[in-house]
Amino acid sequence: MITARGLARSFQTKSGPIDAVKPIDLDVRAGEIVGLLGPNGAGKTTTLRMLTTLLMPSAGSATVAGADLVGQPRDVRRRIGYVAQVGAAPSAGTLVGEELVTQARLQGLSKSAASERLRQVAPRLDLGGLEGRALLELSGGQRRRFDVALGLMHSPQLVFLDEPTTGLDPQSRANLWRHIKSLRDDVGLTVVLTTHYLDEADALADRVLVMDHGQIVANDTPDALKARISGDVVTFGIADGDDRAKAEAVARAATDVREVVTSDSAVLVTVDDGAVAVAPLLRALDAAGLSPTSITVNRPTLDDVFLTLTGHSLREGNEVA
Ligand SMILES: Nc1ncnc2c1ncn2[C@@H]1O[C@H](COP(=O)(O)OP(=O)(O)O)[C@@H](O)[C@H]1O
Ligand SMILES: [Mg+2]
Repeated sequence: MITARGLARSFQTKSGPIDAVKPIDLDVRAGEIVGLLGPNGAGKTTTLRMLTTLLMPSAGSATVAGADLVGQPRDVRRRIGYVAQVGAAPSAGTLVGEELVTQARLQGLSKSAASERLRQVAPRLDLGGLEGRALLELSGGQRRRFDVALGLMHSPQLVFLDEPTTGLDPQSRANLWRHIKSLRDDVGLTVVLTTHYLDEADALADRVLVMDHGQIVANDTPDALKARISGDVVTFGIADGDDRAKAEAVARAATDVREVVTSDSAVLVTVDDGAVAVAPLLRALDAAGLSPTSITVNRPTLDDVFLTLTGHSLREGNEVA
C-alpha cells in the first residue's frame, strides 16, 4: 500500500537548515495498522504530510495506494484520507452531518451518494444521532471521531491519522482505538497513524516504526519491541555528568549486564534479575568511588523500550510540549 525509498525533507529556517526527516524507507502492506511512534519534533507529521502530497519531499520517491507520490499526486489524494494533528477550529454554526456531506461532495460524490455515505460512516464512529449537532458542541472524543469520519467520507483505501487521540481522556482514547481497529477488521482499511503514546502504539498497531530525530530507529511488532528488553532495569541516580559516564563504564564491565543507558540524571542497567544484580553492581560502583543517590529496581515499562532504542525518554521529550 505504501513503498517509500529515501524519502526526506529539510526546512530552511532563520537558524539554518533543519533535516526534519532524514532519508527513510517505509513499507506498509494493505490492511495493516502501522504506528509511527516518536517524541515531539521526531518528524512524524512531516512524514505524513509528504506521504499525503501536502509537502514536497526534498529527496526520495514513494508509491502510495498504487500511485506515484510526486508524479500522480491527484491520484494519491483521491485514494487516501488524512486526519490532521489538531482539528481546525470550526465556524460557529457548522453541523456534523452537513460538514461530512460537504466533504464528500468536495471529493466528487453526488448529493445522494454523499448522504448514503454519511449513513454508513456515522455509525462506524458512533456519530449516529449527532448529525444535527454543531461541531462546537461536541466533546473532545466526539470531535476526534468526527475528524476521522471526515477522512473516510470518500471511501479511501488508506487513511493517515496524525495523533488521533492526543488530548483525549483514557475512555475516549480506548473508544477511538476500537473504532479504528474495527475499520481495519471490517472493511480492510489500511491505517498509518502517528503517536507519542507507547500504550497507543501497543494497543493499536500491528507494527511500530520508532522515529527519533528524523530517522526510523526500529521497525517491529509491539511484542517484539518489548521482548528486546525483557529483564529488569536497575536505576542508579547520579547527578554529576562525569560520575554518570564513569558509572556507565563500570556497569558495562559488570557480568550479566544486558544493556546500559544513561538519562539526564541516572544510569539504567538492564539485567535478567534485578534483585540478584543490584548488590554486585553497587559494590563495583563503590570500588570506583561512586555513590549513587538513589537505587531502584523495576520491571521494564514501554518507555524503557524507547529509552533503550534512543538513549532518551519519550516522557522527557513530551514534557516540553
Ligand atoms: N514548516 C516548517 N518549517 C521549519 N521547520 C519545520 C517545519 N515543519 C516542521 N519543522 C521542524 O521539523 C522537525 C519535525 O517536525 P514534525 O514533523 O512536526 O515532528 P513531529 O510531528 O514528530 O512532532 C521539528 O524540528 C520541526 O520544528
Ligand atoms: Mg506532529
